[in-house]
Amino acid sequence: MNKVQYICIFILVISFLIVILKNKTNENFYSKKIISNNLPSDRFISLIENTNFNDIDAEQFNKNEDGDLIDGMIGSNETPKLLYLAGKSVRKDSVVVEYGCWFGKSSRAVALGLKENYKNGFFVFDLFKMIDDPNKILLKKNKVKKNESFIHIFNRNVKQLYPKTKTYEGWITDKSNSNIWKKPVDLFLMDCAKDLDNFKIQMINLADSLRIGSIIVLCDFSWPLLTYSQPAIVYSILRNNLKMLYFSPETSHFFFKVTSELDKKKIKDFKFKNYSKEYFKKIFSDVNKDIIFLSKKYKLNSERRTKTINKQLQLLIKKEF
Ligand SMILES: C[S@@+](CC[C@H](N)C(=O)[O-])C[C@H]1O[C@@H](n2cnc3c(N)ncnc32)[C@H](O)[C@@H]1O
Repeated sequence: MNKVQYICIFILVISFLIVILKNKTNENFYSKKIISNNLPSDRFISLIENTNFNDIDAEQFNKNEDGDLIDGMIGSNETPKLLYLAGKSVRKDSVVVEYGCWFGKSSRAVALGLKENYKNGFFVFDLFKMIDDPNKILLKKNKVKKNESFIHIFNRNVKQLYPKTKTYEGWITDKSNSNIWKKPVDLFLMDCAKDLDNFKIQMINLADSLRIGSIIVLCDFSWPLLTYSQPAIVYSILRNNLKMLYFSPETSHFFFKVTSELDKKKIKDFKFKNYSKEYFKKIFSDVNKDIIFLSKKYKLNSERRTKTINKQLQLLIKKEF
């Protein structure tokens, strides 16, 4: 080889190294960006956009430490994975609150996310008592009779994994509030009584603890409910305070970002009859636009969701006007 050839090979090798290094730096920069994004809602979206869901092991959500399958109402793939990513998104100085954890399938997914970062306090509230007819829904292993406590099942599914979980048994009341958790709440999950009175209590309890950028997870927007429920209430009271971030393709779990402080008085005083039919029509049409926007952005099927939202609007108008 002559001198020129040596120089050419040298230049080629150097260029090759530069390309590799550049890619590596970009990767580091990007993963750093994910970690240093300030708001939990931004971190959550970064994680969703940069995670291959197939790389997350679903078994850890669906089975407990003893290898037993967990009964739950959140599906067994996308929703637990999304809750896990939401748990990973919260900041160090915050806590997580869950109203309605049942046997802890949702709590377990969140706890697995918390465990990876700051091991935040986790406050869960439930009756921990079977109020429905258990035979229809339970695995044989979880035999619990009507009115019997099931907290031992929750403990097996969650406390064993995440001892920092604090359980509160009984009806959620206006005492189930920030006097208990005492820190800002970066992630709030609500899957229990969803009628207007209970919804108001739950949101007022959380109003002062939620910061801009906190994540709220609400469910049952997509069930063909006989009477209107959470969608009508949430969208009409909190439409201007929340931004829809994502929805689970598997279940009816919707993820919201808190965009401004929640006004307790506005929540407490809310009555459907204080607003016009046009007001609700406008809100529900905006919400459908959000759903369609997200479904296009993330390739999620939205048809069932928009249909239900429209159905809810018809029910609301029929009942209130
Ligand atoms: C749909 S389940 C929750 C499902 C659960 N997140 C999961 O991962 O499978 C609803 C739970 O809310 C609880 N619940 C309903 N109304 C409640 C209330 N007012 N106060 C406390 N808990 C309540 C029930 O005991 C039940 O465990």
